[in-house]
Amino acid sequence: MSVSRPRVLADLPVGPAVLQLLNDRVELVPWSAAQEPGAAGITAIYTYGHPVVNGELLDRLPGVRSISNFGVGVDHIDLKAAAARNIPVGNTPGILDGATADMGFALLLAAGRRLVEGDRFARGPEFLKYDPSRYLGREIHHATLGIIGMGRIGMQVARRAAGFDMTVIYHNRQPRPEAEQTLGVRYASLEELLKTADYVILTVPLSPATRGLIGRAELALMKPTASLINIARGAVIDQDALAECLQARRIHAAALDVTDPEPLPRDHPLLKLDNVIITPHLGSATEQTRQRMAEMSVSNLIAGLAGEPMIFVQ
Ligand code: DGY
Repeated sequence: MSVSRPRVLADLPVGPAVLQLLNDRVELVPWSAAQEPGAAGITAIYTYGHPVVNGELLDRLPGVRSISNFGVGVDHIDLKAAAARNIPVGNTPGILDGATADMGFALLLAAGRRLVEGDRFARGPEFLKYDPSRYLGREIHHATLGIIGMGRIGMQVARRAAGFDMTVIYHNRQPRPEAEQTLGVRYASLEELLKTADYVILTVPLSPATRGLIGRAELALMKPTASLINIARGAVIDQDALAECLQARRIHAAALDVTDPEPLPRDHPLLKLDNVIITPHLGSATEQTRQRMAEMSVSNLIAGLAGEPMIFVQ
């Protein structure tokens, strides 16, 4: 006798690690299935990336008992709408902090030392003779790092900065005395941080309070030698303001692992600039971390379907 598997709405394709864990247990249906007859038979939602889960979608899917997100950021899910319908929302915090902080640091180093520009040049026809005056960057060691968002990932970034003899200041909704004690970081107002830091890194979740946090006025406070690194969400930065700022070379560089939208339209002004590095949302993209995220998110999904506690619920 064949047992019917729970129908799970997912933004397909999901990665291979997830697929392997899900295939025997659930039937994945594409996002468009929410608009089709039979939507009522969908019992869970599996998300990664950006498809929006809001009250309107949930009203179309009255059978949903579990929402699981592959990743920590749940800005695309209306948590209040889910709570109002008693649907648990699982995500995957903690297990990706190290990988995401590594990526943030890789971007910081690359922006400061003009790594991507140097790579492009070294491959090109113009590199015919070593010239010590080319591609001078900014030092990282003994520079000041400003971390905006001292959560789990921000703290991991601060740990890495210690190895580079950096002075670390941070801004957060609330000061974090435990981080100050264990990591030797100092709280600063947003204004002081932007005015002082040689590297500003964004590690805040996207929320109404952080949307557009770095706009024209904030960019204008940054030092002309400073670099801006974003491993949070694209919408934390006003990208039009950033493109203008970089075009006018008012700061040294930016390095963005996230953009809004993602991907950017292929003719977006940011893609034309040589003082910005853009990576395709690779923060947690290591084989090991993605495997852990797959296991945790699938376990959350199945737990929600079974009415059991998720490993991590919002
Ligand atoms: C996260 O975990 O939120 C990462 O950005 C991957 O989506």
